[in-house]
Amino acid sequence: MVALIAMLTLAQEPERDAALAKANAAVRAAIPLAVADPTRPAYHYHAPAQWMNDPNGPIFYKGWYHVFYQTNPYGDRWEHMHWGHARSRDLVSWEDLPVALWPSLGKGERHVFSGSLFPGADGKPVAFYTSIGDGREPEQWIAMPEDDDLIRWRKDPLRITQSIHGGKPLTEWRDPFLFDDFGLPFMLVGGGLDGRGVVALYKALGPDLRHWQYLGPMFTHPDADVHNVECPNLALVDGKWVLLVSVHGRVEAFVGELRNTTFTTEKRSVLADGSYASQLFQGVADRTIHTAWVNTGGHRGWNGFLTLPSELHVAKDGTLLRTPVKELTKLRGRATKIGDRAMEGEIGRGGDELEIELTLAPGGSTRAGLRLGGAEIAYEPATRRLSVGGRSAFVPALPKTQDVKLHIYLDRTTVDVYAADGAATLIAHREEASAKEEIALFSEGGSAQAKKITVWSLKAP
Ligand code: FRU
Repeated sequence: MVALIAMLTLAQEPERDAALAKANAAVRAAIPLAVADPTRPAYHYHAPAQWMNDPNGPIFYKGWYHVFYQTNPYGDRWEHMHWGHARSRDLVSWEDLPVALWPSLGKGERHVFSGSLFPGADGKPVAFYTSIGDGREPEQWIAMPEDDDLIRWRKDPLRITQSIHGGKPLTEWRDPFLFDDFGLPFMLVGGGLDGRGVVALYKALGPDLRHWQYLGPMFTHPDADVHNVECPNLALVDGKWVLLVSVHGRVEAFVGELRNTTFTTEKRSVLADGSYASQLFQGVADRTIHTAWVNTGGHRGWNGFLTLPSELHVAKDGTLLRTPVKELTKLRGRATKIGDRAMEGEIGRGGDELEIELTLAPGGSTRAGLRLGGAEIAYEPATRRLSVGGRSAFVPALPKTQDVKLHIYLDRTTVDVYAADGAATLIAHREEASAKEEIALFSEGGSAQAKKITVWSLKAP
């Protein structure tokens, strides 16, 4: 019986084992070059080697957080999209697993694009992804795991094609994301319709998640220069619906209401500027955990990493908040409490991996901030803009105060900033190795104060 099942599986997936063995060998061979690069982050999750982009299908299942991701096992540039795979008990320390999904060349598939996992009727996750083939329209394909560790996958022969749209196909139709509303599964797919970026909505016609009905576009991007959206995510957070879409190199967040099949926006912002192609973990009961891709560009045997897993909340006034998950405090080593002082001079040696908390009271300054790891984090009170590494974000006054709380992570050449309890978040990565200079405070145009400064040295897991 067991042999018969094995034979049937092999017959369904004749290419799988050879394709995956080849992909895994190519990744292993690239590891020595990737690990030798000192600019590679230490505690932000990244593929063992080679190119990675979007996180795919993050899910908590049977005691593990799983993350899949777009990867090219054969090089450090975008090509040959597969799904890489890693898992973690705590969202902090990650175990790399073999490549999970491969392009079925024999079935005309060239790339396995982004998608998500969702619990099926029996609780087992099902993968939905966009299949790209040579000279055909994108299709949404389904894959099922053969084991509880989600290591071996088999593709369902069923495909969702553009025929679901009844003669009005979407352009750039990709990146399925599933969610449930009152226990009923729905799917979102990004794309374009009549020249505008849209998020299309579909309803599952049965608990096996194999048959779907198109309900129309749930959301049309408000900007006329957005012709398609990528990687939509949706979740109910603190009683509000949060819709994330990736456009023009940024993750845009819309907080609002979902009535019948239409999303209406109440507040719009950019989430974790410097990152792209976000995902939300499925299967986590009482929190919404977010991660996204940071594109690097060094091409030294690796490229790209994921943002720190972060929790989303919606404040009373509808502002979307993003804060690092509490598990990240496990990284903390020695703490140095500096207390209050003027925003000037050095406050200690910069390490490669640090966490810093402080409250910036801008006083009479026109610009104030910190320099660390070769990056400058600067705040301008007149415009309430916070900038780092060429990115900038508006910091809402939450609560109504001039003071801005800053929570900063340094990971070698990467700086993450969470300001005002996560109301503004930025991430910046540089290609040069950090010079390990002092952490310096500065203010311009007048004096500023720093309150309650704490610096932790971090230990990469
Ligand atoms: C976003 C994206 C997705 C697509 C994937 C391909 O970065 O363009 O829309 O599925 O990357 O790797």
